[in-house]
Amino acid sequence: MGMPSVLVLNGPNLNLLGTREPAIYGVETLDDVARLCREAAGRLGLEIDFRQSNAEHQLIDWLHEARTRVDGIVINPAAYTHTSVAIADALAAIAKPVIEVHISNVHKREAFRHHSFVSPVAQAIIVGCGTQGYALALEHMATLLAKEVAK
Ligand code: DQA
Repeated sequence: MGMPSVLVLNGPNLNLLGTREPAIYGVETLDDVARLCREAAGRLGLEIDFRQSNAEHQLIDWLHEARTRVDGIVINPAAYTHTSVAIADALAAIAKPVIEVHISNVHKREAFRHHSFVSPVAQAIIVGCGTQGYALALEHMATLLAKEVAK
């Protein structure tokens, strides 16, 4: 049996991390986040596939592929969190644990960021921990997947 595999999926505008509203999202780039995730995954014994797209259909296609290919999903759906029934439906179609991550504390921000279509289909949500939230999500994912193996 190989290592459990986790898809780490990033939504629109997250390719601009580091230069985009640094007071809110910090100065780390998406490459830095990918590195942080790879380090966490190495420590936790997970294999990760780290991806970003600005296109809703691309995120959905990757989620469809992930249905049979991965053991869990960590997703920062970015603005699609607040708008996309389609991404929520794609996540609901996957019988694997989903952890939703937001770098900023969305509840401290505009009211339109307070609602998430994704949260009802997520096993856990990590908000406002900065990019460290990704490492925390992978840590919790490793715990969930270890429990599944033990079943
Ligand atoms: C975000 C929060 C969203 O409201 C926003 O649209 C993003 C990033 C976050 O990580 O804090 O693009 O998901």
